[in-house]
Amino acid sequence: MLKVMAAAVAAFGVLAGSAVADTYPSRPITLVVPFSAGGPTDTVSRLVAEAMGKDLGQQIVIENVGGAGGTLGAGRVAKSDPDGYTLLLHHIGMATSVPLYRKLPYDTLNAFEYVGLVTEVPMTIVGRGSLEPTDLKSLIDYVKTNKDTVTYANAGVGSASHLCGLLFMSRLETPLTTVPYKGAGPAMTDLVGGQVDFICDQTTNTTSQIRAGKIKAYAATVKERLASLPDIPTAAEAGLPDFNLTVWHGMYAPKGTSPEIVAKLTAALQKALKDPNVVKRFADLGTTPSTEAEATPDALKAKLVSEIERWTPVIKAAGVYAD
Ligand code: MLT
Repeated sequence: MLKVMAAAVAAFGVLAGSAVADTYPSRPITLVVPFSAGGPTDTVSRLVAEAMGKDLGQQIVIENVGGAGGTLGAGRVAKSDPDGYTLLLHHIGMATSVPLYRKLPYDTLNAFEYVGLVTEVPMTIVGRGSLEPTDLKSLIDYVKTNKDTVTYANAGVGSASHLCGLLFMSRLETPLTTVPYKGAGPAMTDLVGGQVDFICDQTTNTTSQIRAGKIKAYAATVKERLASLPDIPTAAEAGLPDFNLTVWHGMYAPKGTSPEIVAKLTAALQKALKDPNVVKRFADLGTTPSTEAEATPDALKAKLVSEIERWTPVIKAAGVYAD
């Protein structure tokens, strides 16, 4: 009798889940961006949210929750109701924060459901317009000579700009004064204003300022020159070989979000990544959407697991961590 009841309850649960999914979404969805407005993660999120919202028939509202390299925003989503109305769009920081933070406000591999990969963005090493060096080699010399006064901006421990800076300083064997922001948006404002000297940031944030001549571009952290910024040498061409770093982004929901709702979100994400406006804007900004095969829960989970394994020894060796 108990087995029959258990089967009935389980069947009811499945029916209830699919009934809820049938009407989902019945109100606007919140997409948490774990960095300030105006930065690269925010830019990617707004483009994807607009396209997904069209497909789902509900507005997707961006909520910027910056701080602690993206871990505050991720923690906000981890603690949200698993009803499909609070989502997270985060990047490589989901992986690097695991070895960086001694105490994260969530269990990275058990606090989220995976919707899918979104995009993988190249980075550029850029300086304020008035910075003396005119190429990467002279920037490296300048940084070493002025190591006590040069300032490097990032979006907090665990951000992509933090990771790139960590790798850059390790290669130069020159620790620098870093200026943390709640996102690369405000960091870029200060770089353009000349208040900070340089940053390694994503093309989704640097391209427009480079094209406007407001900042100096020294190198792109990719093996082939960027079609969107063809005049910028790769790091290898500019004298810094094997300095390649791209920033992958994924979309997540709180653990316990029903498989039916996750499947709806994955389908809407895959459609959004083929949206002509998304494709064009991503190309303008130096990146490309993830493929349909990448924009899946399994692909995102595999990426996150492999990236935690990849970066943990690198970060441990650098002896960097945050409390
Ligand atoms: C980062 O450095 O992780 C991002 O550029 C931060 C942001 O998207 O604002």
